Amino acid sequence: LRSRIIVDRDFIISPLDRRVFGTFVEHMGRCVYGGIYEPGHPTADKRGFRQDVLELTKELGPTIVRYPGGNFLSGYNWEDGVGPKDKRPTRLDLAWGSTETNQFGTNEFMDWCRVANVEPMFAVNTGTRGADEARNFLEYCNHPGGTYWSDLRRSHGYEKPHDIKFWCVGNEMDGPWQICRKTATEYGRIAQETGKVMRWVDPDIKLAACGSSARTMPTYAAWEHDVLDNCFNEVDFISLHQYFRNDSNDIQTFFTVIEDLDSFIKEVAAIADAVAAKRRSSKRIMLSLDEWNVWYKAHTPEDLRKPGWPQAPKLIEEIYNFEDALIVGGALITMINNADRVKAACIAQLVNVIGPIMTETGGPAWRQTIFHPFSQASRHARGNVLRAKIDSPTFSTKTHADASCVLASIVHDPDSGEVNILALNRHTTEEIELEVELRGLGKLKVVSASELHHKDLKAINSKDKRDEVSPASRSDVTISGETLKAKLKPLSWNVIATG
Ligand code: AHR
Repeated sequence: LRSRIIVDRDFIISPLDRRVFGTFVEHMGRCVYGGIYEPGHPTADKRGFRQDVLELTKELGPTIVRYPGGNFLSGYNWEDGVGPKDKRPTRLDLAWGSTETNQFGTNEFMDWCRVANVEPMFAVNTGTRGADEARNFLEYCNHPGGTYWSDLRRSHGYEKPHDIKFWCVGNEMDGPWQICRKTATEYGRIAQETGKVMRWVDPDIKLAACGSSARTMPTYAAWEHDVLDNCFNEVDFISLHQYFRNDSNDIQTFFTVIEDLDSFIKEVAAIADAVAAKRRSSKRIMLSLDEWNVWYKAHTPEDLRKPGWPQAPKLIEEIYNFEDALIVGGALITMINNADRVKAACIAQLVNVIGPIMTETGGPAWRQTIFHPFSQASRHARGNVLRAKIDSPTFSTKTHADASCVLASIVHDPDSGEVNILALNRHTTEEIELEVELRGLGKLKVVSASELHHKDLKAINSKDKRDEVSPASRSDVTISGETLKAKLKPLSWNVIATG
């Protein structure tokens, strides 16, 4: 079978916003405690940051990290997590039925972001709290000094403002599971007024309003419309959350979550533009896919909550397999190809809790299968996303007709001259001979090429078999003139770097 792609240097979808390679750290299960932070761990530094997790985070390559939740956010008092640790209160976390010791909070997270070399994406609680807490918190974080909250930060040892630019106004406010869920109109008004006062404290921030918790929510689309109709003037982004499920245990059907993600993105952009049209406004609300991943195995009530209010219990520790990695690769391609509207995205979460990194408390850390497509995309996708015209064999499922077997993103970095290709072959049995016409991109050579493939879709990485599913480099990709040729194994994720 054959597939042909044509790209041209001048046919650009958009420059890629590197914030699409974000991740998420929530006070949930062992993401913070036993994940990024574990005082006493053999690799922990004096601040309690696990260096093994930090090194893997750097290799994963996230650009921005959302914090502190998630559902946890909607009951969180940020004041509990700052100041001397021995004075911080221990509280019930109603979102996850856990005990929160608050030994890790805003300043610890900022320290961690600095050493991890990532931008923070903070969120304010619009569940139990609202505009008053948000303006105080922002004053604590971003105001230079001379006021109550900014001086409190300075007294905690942080003389300089944290200068946090990206703020989420609440989390999943449409979900019945959310602490103090709101209707779209209630939340839209709160987002408008909270955003307004936050901008008065710091006009340089970017704000994201909560969109739907999933495309399958009964209020989907009406929610986005009504929320934005109320807060259009104050926000820059609307969020999307999507967790992919493999309920039918059939890889072809599973693959079509990628088409659904594409529809989700285009629909939300259309709704945001409809709200703009009502105002005759040229403002374009951008999309922040600030929670996404595969998540369906560790989804029972016992995975979500353990009895007895434990501290940092094992919650939703999804074990990822090879097919999940293919889905993550496909989702990344979809986000990249929608680079004109998706300007931020966070794979949820970073470690242990539906994470690309897994740890044992007191023990080692390793890469789950989904780590690989994410780290490769983050490393290789820079610059302008080119509009790829793809001719490919197709497959059909009960719900999706003529889905392209080959999906690809082609990104050109005009600074370095690199042209990098991410390609997924979704054919279940056939190798596909791929030909890419790289028009107007100069004389290119293959710099590196790799494929992620395993004969068993259910293969996993574990503490004892850490590299069972990992990319293998290959040397059979050729370029002659403007034509690149590569063979894509059935069910494979491929990365080709040229320059
Ligand atoms: O990431 C796990 C949870 O999923 C988050 O806390 C919540 O926002 C979503 O429902």
